[in-house]
Amino acid sequence: MSRQILVTAALPYANGHIHVGHLVEYIQTDIWVRFQKMRGHRCLFVCADDTHGTAIMIRARREGRSEEAVIADMREAHLRDFAGFQIEFDNYGSTNSPENRELCHQIWSAIRRRGLVRQKDVQQLFDPVVGTFLADRFVRGTCPRCGAADQPGDNCSSCSATYTPADLRDARSVLSNAIPEIRTAEHLFIELEQLHEFLQQWSQEGDHLQPEVARYLKGNFLGDPLRDWDVSRPAPYFGFEIPDHPGNYWYVWFDAPIGYMASTKEWCQRTGDDFNSWWSSESSAEIHHFIGKDITYFHTLFWPGMLKTADCNLPSRVHVHGFLTVGGEKMSKSRGTFLMASTWLRHLPPGAMRYYYASKLGPGLDDLDLNLEEFVARVNTDLVNKVVNLASRSAGFLAGQTLSDTYPDDGGLFGDGAARGELIAGFYEDCNYNAAIREIMALADRANKYVDERQPWVIRKDPTRSGELRDVCSVTLNLFRQIVVYLKPVLPELAQQTADLLNQPIEHWSDSQTPLTGTMVSPFQHLMKRLEMKQVEAMLEDSKQETAAEQTAAGSTPAPAGPTLHPADTWQDSGDALKNEPLAAECTIDDFTKVDLRVARVLEANHVEGANKLLQLTLSLGGGETRNVFAGIKAAYKPEDLVGRLVICVANLKPRQMKFGLSQGMICASGAGGAEVFLLSPDQGAVPGHRVH
Ligand code: MSP
Ligand code: ZN
Repeated sequence: MSRQILVTAALPYANGHIHVGHLVEYIQTDIWVRFQKMRGHRCLFVCADDTHGTAIMIRARREGRSEEAVIADMREAHLRDFAGFQIEFDNYGSTNSPENRELCHQIWSAIRRRGLVRQKDVQQLFDPVVGTFLADRFVRGTCPRCGAADQPGDNCSSCSATYTPADLRDARSVLSNAIPEIRTAEHLFIELEQLHEFLQQWSQEGDHLQPEVARYLKGNFLGDPLRDWDVSRPAPYFGFEIPDHPGNYWYVWFDAPIGYMASTKEWCQRTGDDFNSWWSSESSAEIHHFIGKDITYFHTLFWPGMLKTADCNLPSRVHVHGFLTVGGEKMSKSRGTFLMASTWLRHLPPGAMRYYYASKLGPGLDDLDLNLEEFVARVNTDLVNKVVNLASRSAGFLAGQTLSDTYPDDGGLFGDGAARGELIAGFYEDCNYNAAIREIMALADRANKYVDERQPWVIRKDPTRSGELRDVCSVTLNLFRQIVVYLKPVLPELAQQTADLLNQPIEHWSDSQTPLTGTMVSPFQHLMKRLEMKQVEAMLEDSKQETAAEQTAAGSTPAPAGPTLHPADTWQDSGDALKNEPLAAECTIDDFTKVDLRVARVLEANHVEGANKLLQLTLSLGGGETRNVFAGIKAAYKPEDLVGRLVICVANLKPRQMKFGLSQGMICASGAGGAEVFLLSPDQGAVPGHRVH
C-alpha cells in the first residue's frame, strides 16, 4: 500500500555554515527519503533555514547590515552545500517567511484559547553596552558550585552543575565583556504540565520514539511535573513579534519547528497540493522528523504538545541520531577537523562521504566517528574494489553490443540477490543502514567470486567463446546493476551512471528483481576513482587555514553596537599581580617539557587531620592511574566541591614523604594563597591523561 510520508531534517541555524557533523543528519535523512520514493510511496522532504534569535541579530550588527541580508547569504551557501552532497529537498524554506508568521499566529491563538499561556516576571541578565538581554550562552563566569572559571551561563562543563546565569560568579557578557545587569521583564510561558498526560501517552506508547529516547523522557522529565516553557523574549530580538504582547517576540524555538509546516505550505502553494492533507489532525500522512540528540526535548515534548493543542497531525516518529566526532575527538578548529561541507567538496567526492556515513549509521543514538584513514580504506575496498570493479571488469568487453537476449544460468546468484531485496529494504526502513550495507556488500563479494571463477579476460582471448563471454558479462553487469539499485538511496550518482551505461533507468526498488536482457551497453566510463590519503591531508590543511583566516577576519568577540571599546579598556586588568610577583628567569623549551603537566580528575578530596591548610586529593589520570596529592587549598575550596572536576597536575614530580603521607604530585593554581587560590581547569573536551603543552 502506498504511504503518504512527510520527512523533515532539523532546520540548520542561519548563523553558521554546514559542516560534516550536520551532514550526518542531512545525508541520513536524504537516504531515507530516496529509499521511500524508490518504494513508490508519496514522500515529501522539507527543510528550511532557522533564522531567528539573538545570534543572527548580533552578527548582523557586527557586519553592519540587516538580518535579512545575512540570512539571504547564508541561505545561498546552505543550498550550495546541500546540493553538493546530493541532498535533495522538495522544498527549502525559511522561518522568516510570511507562511511561518501566519502559522505561528494560528498555533499561538490555539494555545491561548486552551488556556495554556501564563505571564511571569523573569530576571534576566542584560548587557548594558550592547543593549540586549543575554541568552545563557552569551554569559560566562565562574561556576557557583565548583569554582571552575569561564563557564557558560546554564551549566558547568567541569562539575556538570546546572544553574541560571544570575548565579554565576564574576559573570561577563560574551558580546562585550561588560558586567551584565539583572533586569526584570515579563515573559510568557506555556504550561506544559497541562499536557502531561498526553505527552506521557504519546511518548511512551506506540512507536513514536526509539526505546532509549522514550526511557530518557520518562526518567528525566515525565516523572515530575513538567516545567513551564518560556516562549517569549523582550525586544531587541530578531523574530516575530507576539501579536497580543507587543514589544515581545517568540523565542526562536517556538517558531522554528512551525517552520516544518511553513515549508510544507510553500511546497503546497507551488505545486497546488492540499496543506491540510499533510498537517491537519484528520490527515493520514505520516510525519517523520530526523534530529540530533541535542534537540530531543524540543521535538518530543514541546513540539507534540504544540501540535496537539492546535489540533494538528502528530509526528509518527522522531528519529534521533548521535553526534559526529572526528578521529575520536570533538571537531576542533585548531586540528582542522571542524570540517566544513564546502571544504570537503573541494577535495573529496560527496558520494564517498554518503557511503561512509551509511556504512556506520545504525538505528540507535550512538555517536559516530569520522576516522579519515578508515574512510579512505572503506571507500576503496567496498566501492572501488568490489562494486565498481564488477562493471570495469565486464562492461568494456560488451561495449557497443547488447546484453544476452535471455538471462543466462548464473547458478541462482541474481535470484538470491533479488530475494534479499525485502530484507535490505527493511534495514533502510529502520534506519539500520550499516546492516543494509553489509548485506549489499555480501552480494558484491559473491558477484566478484563469480567473475574470478569465470575469468572473462581469459575467455575473451578465444574467438570461439564469444557467446560465453557475452553471457558472463551479461550476468556480471546484471549483478552489478542489482547492487546499484540497492545502493541508489546512498549513491544516486552511481545509479545514474549505471542507468546510462546500460541504457535503462533505475527508478524503483523493483528494478532489482528482474535482470536486463538484450539492452545496449554503452562505452565504459570510469565510475569512481580510488581515494588517496593525500587528498585527505590536503583537505585538513585547507580546513586549518580556512578557520584561521575566518577567526582573524571576524575577530574573536563580536563588536558591540555603539562606540567600539578598546579591548584593553574593557577588561581593565590592573598590573598588581605582576608587580607582586615579577616574572621568573628565562627558561628553555626543554626546561618546560621536563615538567609533565597532565589533565586529571579529582576522584576524592578529604580534610587531613591536624593540617590546617591542606586537603588530600586522589587524582585520576585515566585508566586506573592515580596520584595522591596534598594541596594547600583548604581555605579556598570545600572537598565536596572538588570531587569530579578536572584539574591540571604535575604528574612526574618526584614523590615526597610528608608528615601526613606520600605526596605524588602537585596541582596547578594561581593566586596569592590562602583563600585567594584559583585552580586551573582545562576547557571542555579535555579528558584525564591529556598532556598540557
Ligand atoms: N536550528 C536548530 C534546529 C531547529 S529544528 C526546528 C539546530 N540547528 S543546528 O544547525 O545547530 O543543527 C541542525 C541539526 O544538525 C541538528 O539536528 C543537530 O543535532 C545536527 N548536528 C549539528 N552538529 C552535529 C554533529 N556534530 N553531529 C551530528 N549532528 C549534528 O539545532
Ligand atoms: Zn562547576
